[in-house]
Amino acid sequence: MSEDALSHLSPVWNRAWPLLVERGEGPYLIDTSGRRYLDFTCGIGVTNTGHAHPRVVKAIQEQAAKLLHGQAALVVHQPMLRLVEELLPIVPKPLDTFFFTNSGAEVIEGAVKLARHATKRPNVIVFQGSFHGRTNATMAMTTSKTIYRAGYAPLASGVFVAPFPYAYHYAWDEATTVSFCLRELKLLLKSQTAPEETAAIVIEPVLGEGGYVPAPTAFLQSLREICDHYGILLVADEVQAGFGRTGKWFSIEYSGVVPDILVMAKGLASGMPLAGLAAPRDLMEKWIPGSHGGTYGGNPVACAAAVATIQVMRDEKLIENAAAMGEVLMAGLRQLQKQHTEIGDVRGRGLMIASEFTDTQGEPWTDRAKAVAKAAYQQGLLLLTCGSYENVIRWIPPLIVNASQLEDGLEKFQAALEA
Ligand SMILES: Cc1ncc(COP(=O)(O)O)c(C=O)c1O
Repeated sequence: MSEDALSHLSPVWNRAWPLLVERGEGPYLIDTSGRRYLDFTCGIGVTNTGHAHPRVVKAIQEQAAKLLHGQAALVVHQPMLRLVEELLPIVPKPLDTFFFTNSGAEVIEGAVKLARHATKRPNVIVFQGSFHGRTNATMAMTTSKTIYRAGYAPLASGVFVAPFPYAYHYAWDEATTVSFCLRELKLLLKSQTAPEETAAIVIEPVLGEGGYVPAPTAFLQSLREICDHYGILLVADEVQAGFGRTGKWFSIEYSGVVPDILVMAKGLASGMPLAGLAAPRDLMEKWIPGSHGGTYGGNPVACAAAVATIQVMRDEKLIENAAAMGEVLMAGLRQLQKQHTEIGDVRGRGLMIASEFTDTQGEPWTDRAKAVAKAAYQQGLLLLTCGSYENVIRWIPPLIVNASQLEDGLEKFQAALEA
């Protein structure tokens, strides 16, 4: 690739590293000079089966030779039906009906449109720090960082923001934080969007871009009760936390709560553009046929990749591996926290873990987190930051990762902390 071609790419992509990547192999990315990087970003939580898993690649190649495009509003194709068969035992009951599209933002837009049709109500409630996408509606639902909204006004209306139970941020214990957030949510329903005007409450059961914060079970259970009481639909955005990432198929399973609409993307198809939403049949039947769709949604090659992804995850016990390796990673990070007091908090579920950097006053320490991520890159370890203050280093290794690769990553991280 010439430098000249690079200068013709839009600068809106502010690339994390000056990395010209040639190929991916399991947990590694390899650049054009042959240098290997331990990729603990998974392309932002996508390549859960590792880069170029042979079974996923084979499924893509075979399907590409058969049918590249089968428009879902015109015909039905086998990979989509096979995907439904694979998803049915995975998603919680009574969610049994699926809609597919291409990206996380598109599927969240779809969920909101379904909720509006089904309830005939206009508004949605989201949570502080959430990230739901960058399209017009989802940008208005995103409050993880101002850059996603600044300069794009007017934003779509009908979106109301309640506090997320981020105990470390508030510097409260979990029970106090949950009680405060529920009080504020109830106040929002009294003061800004009446229940009879509220179609959906949309939550990331593990807050992603906003800082990798699992929502406490008591909070999710209370949301379910509030939604049931008022006929509001509960939408779980599992775009980043779903598909085995947290050691369960979907992160909301930790709470025992079943949402009305479950949204998935990223890890679903190992890198092919595919997203889906699941809802009970009677709810899905309230979505007026022909009122939503898209040219590419549910593409056969992407569906074949998703089928292979699910089979690999089952056969190679990747969910179990995510839970087990998550404990190894968490223990290693907690050990490093003891030596480095700037790591104020280590939290997460499975292989979705945060190390939050704070200064001696307990304030977010953005520069330190960014410097450590940069030093990790120099060590050959790819790590991303997240959080509104970008002071959180997030750990999202692929679900195929083993203990020695984690140890290698932790050693590189230690070197980065000491650089
Ligand atoms: C929780 C969540 N929802 C939605 C999205 C938007 O997905 P996409 O970038 O595929 O549009 C993201 C992307 O990071 C996400 O993390």
